[in-house]
Amino acid sequence: MTVISELADLQRLYHRRVPRMFQGYCESGSWTQQTLALNRTDFQRILFRQRVARDLEPRTLATTLVGQPVRMPVALAPVGLLGMQHPDGEIKAAQAAEAFGVPFTLSTMSICSIETVARHTTKPFWFQLYVQRDRDFTRRLIERARAVGCSALVLTLDLQMIGKRHADHRNGMTAPPRLTLPNLIDIARRPRWALGMLATRNRGFGNIQGCATGVEDMRDLMQWTAASFDPKLGWDDIKRYREWWDGPLIIKGIMEAEDARACVALGAEAVVVSNHGGRQLDGARSSISVLPEIVEAVGGDIEVWLDSGVRTGQDVIRARALGARGVMVGRPLVYGLGADGRAGVTRMLEILHEETELTMAFIGHRDIAEITAADIVMRD
Ligand code: FNR
Repeated sequence: MTVISELADLQRLYHRRVPRMFQGYCESGSWTQQTLALNRTDFQRILFRQRVARDLEPRTLATTLVGQPVRMPVALAPVGLLGMQHPDGEIKAAQAAEAFGVPFTLSTMSICSIETVARHTTKPFWFQLYVQRDRDFTRRLIERARAVGCSALVLTLDLQMIGKRHADHRNGMTAPPRLTLPNLIDIARRPRWALGMLATRNRGFGNIQGCATGVEDMRDLMQWTAASFDPKLGWDDIKRYREWWDGPLIIKGIMEAEDARACVALGAEAVVVSNHGGRQLDGARSSISVLPEIVEAVGGDIEVWLDSGVRTGQDVIRARALGARGVMVGRPLVYGLGADGRAGVTRMLEILHEETELTMAFIGHRDIAEITAADIVMRD
């Protein structure tokens, strides 16, 4: 039996079970992958102050994110093509998150549609929006999310164009995936996965059927994205999306104080400090190093969250100490899902919960709300 003790164990299992092309899509960063690396190393510059002789019972990580109760301040980040990493991946991930008590965010670029995920879940999930050149279609996406009861809209702003990820180019990453001979050979060794991949191929993208860019003709994900995503987006357009969506609006991909203030001004409920997991602007700073500037700029007016590089419970505490309300995890979700479907996502969440709670106790706290900047020191 494989022991899954830390997220790295799930990652190893993921490598054994998922075809290489899909691993490349998940793990690569853009260009030289400098930002991808900084997202990890900068977390390790934040060290804890250990405390002793404290009353550490009972302990809780429970809090709220945009006013919604959560068991810990962690949400599943929107990840495209989850249904490619595991059959019905979006549904399995949503079910795991729902049972665990954390939010699941369905990407615009999902295999399972908004409606399909809604049919297989009992609680509201969040919907992530990429703004398309086809504005009517974009509005219809928002209306579909509202119609199934999505409880927040995550508007991603850092992908007006797509960062070049060399692994995807080398692997001929297309979407829906074209099953070339090497891939088939890879898949043929794993019959369970072969079925899922073939089902995925036949289904295509659930949310973007009907978009003016003609998803039916899609041959290459990068080319399609370039043709479809809106490179002319301005704050005035975003105001319109605010008006069309009356629930909580979370704006993702914010890395500068001025942009964060613009989000406050237009009435967003939260921003996510994110460089898209190092997949977009290579050479950008790490999210964790930018977080304090954004927290200061926002001044408590709205929630500030963080993603990009969170891999342990210690990272969750580090982000909280620097003022984040919560974090999102992207690749850890994919590792769990690819390793063992719904059970793998649940295990990933359990590990993060255990690690976060233990770290909180070691620094002398019983409640996640007690964590402050006084609990950490920065290593030079
Ligand atoms: C993403 N991310 C992403 N973001 C988004 O808003 N919509 C999307 O469809 C996707 N798709 C996507 C696919 C894959 C394979 C990855 C790894 C990431 C970005 C994601 O939401 C999040 O910002 C990062 O994954 C966070 O970094 P970590 O946790 O992966 O280090």
